[in-house]
Amino acid sequence: MTSMFSITPSILVTSVLNPNLRVFDIVMPTEYGTSYNSYVVVGSEKIALIEAAHADFLDAYFAHLDAALEGRAPDYLVLDHTEPDHTGTVAALLERYPDLQIVISRSGALFLQNIVNRADLDCLIVGEGDTLDLGDKTLRFISAPLLHWPDTMFTYCPEEKVVFTCDFLGSHYCEPEVFDRHILYADAYEEALRQYFGGIMAPFKPYVRAGLEKLSALDVEVACVSHGPVLTRGCELERVIGRYGQWAAEEDSGRALRVPVFYCSAYGSTKALAQRLVSGIRSVLPGAEVASYDLIEHDLAELGALMNESDAFALGSPTINRDALPVVWNLLAQADAINFAKRPVALFGSYGWSGEAAGHIAQRLTSLKAAVFEEQLRVQFIPTEADLTAAETFGAAFAATIAPQ
Ligand code: FEO
Repeated sequence: MTSMFSITPSILVTSVLNPNLRVFDIVMPTEYGTSYNSYVVVGSEKIALIEAAHADFLDAYFAHLDAALEGRAPDYLVLDHTEPDHTGTVAALLERYPDLQIVISRSGALFLQNIVNRADLDCLIVGEGDTLDLGDKTLRFISAPLLHWPDTMFTYCPEEKVVFTCDFLGSHYCEPEVFDRHILYADAYEEALRQYFGGIMAPFKPYVRAGLEKLSALDVEVACVSHGPVLTRGCELERVIGRYGQWAAEEDSGRALRVPVFYCSAYGSTKALAQRLVSGIRSVLPGAEVASYDLIEHDLAELGALMNESDAFALGSPTINRDALPVVWNLLAQADAINFAKRPVALFGSYGWSGEAAGHIAQRLTSLKAAVFEEQLRVQFIPTEADLTAAETFGAAFAATIAPQ
């Protein structure tokens, strides 16, 4: 499915729609599908394509591009970042238009060589403030690193007051027309917008704030995003920018410390330790948000978000087959690795024969650069009252390492 329409007389959107996508990049649920948006900017002298598309939709992409170009050959392909959902059709584009010059950031050019596996690409490297003359239209490039790839940039057309923001301000949301004035399911769009921010932009909040500041310096009527509805002033643009500002705000200083205690427990032993750990942590951090969470009984995605937002956490697992339980690995699979460094974590658990779980979890956390509490609380079979008291002491000692000085 495709969607094509004019944003201005000189700018067309040539999206490929994928309403049936349910998981993006093999990790991100996309309940509302997605679109891969690309654009054509027609100047009086030159024509620029902005972004390409996912390789799985090559035929649809070309059909739409042909309709937009009406027999003209494009001169430039601007790639605001190189993730393959927007560069999967680049190799085929270059076969069809051998003189097409790629306009890209320096790091993007390095990535692209290994995406199309060609060392002879004709790349025009651009950086902050550089411009490209299309005749009566200009494209100005604005560096926007880590939104969400290292090579990300925005492209701005001042004559049309249109900015191409790559994935920034986008959403995995798909309706027949990729335009904010015709959104049929506003609540679903809002949910998709939030999930997209959480999954793609949240690890880079300082860069989000920097990106918003750069956008605020531009006179913008339309933001052409790479996924989901194109955003227009007076409809969704201001609201979406406001949401990003809100979600990317500095961590609320003065909020209570969050120290969740996660566990799973086959026969209640690790659960009992978790409960006494909570008491121990609270004894040192009376104002902290401390509670225990059974990994089996709670929604694991919500616990993953809580783990990522925590200031520190404890994690308890029994040992079965010489390892921690799968649910523990599933929790840690959600770790925001970019922001996990130095996160204090304490490990505990009951075991029957050998008790390897805590050690294996420690290895994983160390690879995430977390600050693993050097002591581990391991109890064989059923904890005695002395073991439970030790769990409380253990929790207090761990809390002492994270208490504000
Ligand atoms: Fe939509 Fe980062 O690619």
